[in-house]
Amino acid sequence: MSKVISIVSTKGGVGKTTLSANLGAFLADQGYKTLLIDADVQPSLSQWHLITNKAEHGLRYLFTDPTVTPEDVVSAIEPNLDIIISDDQRDELRKWAQETPDGRFRLRRLLQDRFNHYDFIIIDTQGAVGPLQEASIIASDIILSPVVPDKLSASEFIHNTISMLNRLHESATWMGMEIGTMHGVLNMVENTSDSSAYADQVRAVDFSHLCHVPVNLVDVTISRAVVWKDAASSRTPAHRLESSTRRKSGSALEIMTRLSKEIGLIEEV
Ligand SMILES: Nc1ncnc2c1ncn2[C@@H]1O[C@H](COP(=O)(O)OP(=O)(O)OP(=O)(O)O)[C@@H](O)[C@H]1O
Ligand SMILES: [Mg+2]
Repeated sequence: MSKVISIVSTKGGVGKTTLSANLGAFLADQGYKTLLIDADVQPSLSQWHLITNKAEHGLRYLFTDPTVTPEDVVSAIEPNLDIIISDDQRDELRKWAQETPDGRFRLRRLLQDRFNHYDFIIIDTQGAVGPLQEASIIASDIILSPVVPDKLSASEFIHNTISMLNRLHESATWMGMEIGTMHGVLNMVENTSDSSAYADQVRAVDFSHLCHVPVNLVDVTISRAVVWKDAASSRTPAHRLESSTRRKSGSALEIMTRLSKEIGLIEEV
């Protein structure tokens, strides 16, 4: 069975696509067969890596055609890394998912039944509440949420991302399903007192009182560093660009390794 990870936040610009692109490539480099799914109407993840073999269809066909097979929708990036690109620029899937009775639940079944030859499936989502984000969470074993330690992002995570999870937990319970564990990861952490204060504020929250879904804030943090921007502009995963650094927070390779271990994706590298 594949392990499905959705990268989610109700806030935009917190690093979801950066994390999806880099974590996917890191896992592929560890020898795991990995599928990225771009479930954002803005197709940033679809444009992140170079695609070597493009499939005829993408996300819209995945959701809406009951006969869909991997051959129809999976584009190749590298031998261990594939992607289903977002081709929903007109935002038609949102309406489809709202109007189709099983619109939020179909993806889970589809991934389990027809895409289970992947070790990992990573779904990048839009930075706003919506039916595709909900479908992605319902399909996932693990939910990973980048949190920037600033006023807006910390408050968005503590209040809105958590209440969205609570709403989904209620629907999933009625359907006899469980929502996976949510792991928050502090991203774009700066060496300033402001950044540390908001990081401490998020760490101090007792999520077991606020959320019906298990929430864990991982120990490893991702600092604001130029390597993550360089990775995007050179279309090269950050762990390949930076295996060591003098930064106290660790190199991109160390961060990806520690994060993957901490959320139980890999054991030893
Ligand atoms: N740790 C980091 N250090 C420096 N820059 C970062 C870091 N993480 C992400 N960025 C940069 O921040 C910007 C936003 O990141 P990204 O596009 O991944 O966010 P997003 O959550 O996917 O946004 P959206 O909600 O618009 O989809 C990008 O320019 C990215 O290169
Ligand atoms: Mg994005």
